Amino acid sequence: MTGRVILVGAGPGDPELITLRGARALAAADVVVYDRLVAPALLELAPPTAERVYVGKEPGSHAWPQPAICALLVERARGGATVVRLKGGDPFVFGRGGEELLACLEVGVPCEVVPGVTSALAAPAAIGVPLTHRGVARSFAVLTASTADGAHADDAVRDLASVARAVDTLVLLMAAGKLAATCEALVAAGRPPDEPAAIVQWATTPEERAVAGPLRDLPSLAAAARIGPPATLVVGEVARFALGPSGQATRRRTSRRSSIAGPSQSSGSGRSASAGSSPGSRTSTAVIPTSTAPRSSP
Ligand SMILES: C[S@@+](CC[C@H](N)C(=O)[O-])C[C@H]1O[C@@H](n2cnc3c(N)ncnc32)[C@H](O)[C@@H]1O
Repeated sequence: MTGRVILVGAGPGDPELITLRGARALAAADVVVYDRLVAPALLELAPPTAERVYVGKEPGSHAWPQPAICALLVERARGGATVVRLKGGDPFVFGRGGEELLACLEVGVPCEVVPGVTSALAAPAAIGVPLTHRGVARSFAVLTASTADGAHADDAVRDLASVARAVDTLVLLMAAGKLAATCEALVAAGRPPDEPAAIVQWATTPEERAVAGPLRDLPSLAAAARIGPPATLVVGEVARFALGPSGQATRRRTSRRSSIAGPSQSSGSGRSASAGSSPGSRTSTAVIPTSTAPRSSP
């Protein structure tokens, strides 16, 4: 009897951010096929006897070509297995989940989708940035700053140009490797150079780090802080909420796993900080200069 494939969103990094349905699917898995950005702790939710297959995708390269991943899912399900395809964030947000769904359905293998918490929402949230906020932002768009194989770089820049001025808040995934070009393209497309922006690496994990500052300065701030992939860029008035409504006041957000602290000192042009190494002791600092203080209150 044919088994089935379940595409499960693993969430952005913190294992607690998987859904209950995703966790239940893992508990029933005979095979787990997982990616690089999936929290290792989630694999423990599968039975010890489950086969675990790493098909990790490093930035700019694929450990497994996509057709081979699709073929593996189909082959194991045809053998009768319940196959969980565990993908970072949400399977359908720059996750190639659509290709895997089609590959299964085209050959009659049942496939269901369990949505996940995408990093597009979770990374800004991790540093206290709402994507919409009354009186400040009422629309947002999620784009890629890059494509996995680099083959569609021109398309990505065109997308930026057409969307840049159409929405209040922009969220860009896969931005770390192309931050300077991305910020330049956004300014060229009409976003103000002094508009607040922030970039968050490894959001919701103990390695989370963030930098905030005016759009034009963000690439140098991020470079100085050595922010690399995986990182999510958020651009718009809401980005100043990384530190609170005044843009310079200290705001401390505490939770079991993370905190954001205001500056102990300010460079005047933005500053980065890195996280502590253990959950609960993590502190990310981001500074938005006074010159970009908020123009409207919530
Ligand atoms: C191939 S896309 C996959 C996105 C995923 N499907 C999702 O919904 O989050 C990978 C990109 O997601 C973003 N990303 C994933 N995990 C992240 C994290 N913990 N912190 C910040 N950005 C993250 C980065 O922009 C990274 O380059």
